Amino acid sequence: MVQKVLVLNGPNLNLLGEREPDLYGDQTLEDIGAVCQKVAQNHGLELDFRQSNLEGELVSWIQQNQYTASGIIINAAAYTHTSVALLDALLTCAVPVIEVHLTNIYQREEFRHNSYISRAARGVICGFGAHGYVLALDAMAQILDSNS
Ligand code: DQA
Repeated sequence: MVQKVLVLNGPNLNLLGEREPDLYGDQTLEDIGAVCQKVAQNHGLELDFRQSNLEGELVSWIQQNQYTASGIIINAAAYTHTSVALLDALLTCAVPVIEVHLTNIYQREEFRHNSYISRAARGVICGFGAHGYVLALDAMAQILDSNS
């Protein structure tokens, strides 16, 4: 059976490409999704790539996928630094979670240094721009491979 990886993107990431391009790069989220699709395919994985500006919607997607997804990759964007609800939803899932950020959050403002998501994450990839998603998918494929 093909394993599904859920990739979740939080608020404002729908604006990638036009949002602070010096910081976040000029690739759109659609561009990143397309690259992820290819990488997932190469690993023989099914990809479900989503974005929401709403915390509750992200929580619901995690809940809905807790038995159908084999792994979750998440860039919770600003909710990374605020959301106990997302942390709790991720802790409920038994599947591996990888946290991704385009920027190196530890190089930025103090309030970005704390991540609630990290407590639920197997690993964190930050500072490599859009390539971080590829690195996360490669890592997820390896984890799922060694679990099967
Ligand atoms: C981000 C970092 C967050 O601090 C910020 O709120 C974002 C994007 C990143 O990918 O670098 O929206 O998650």
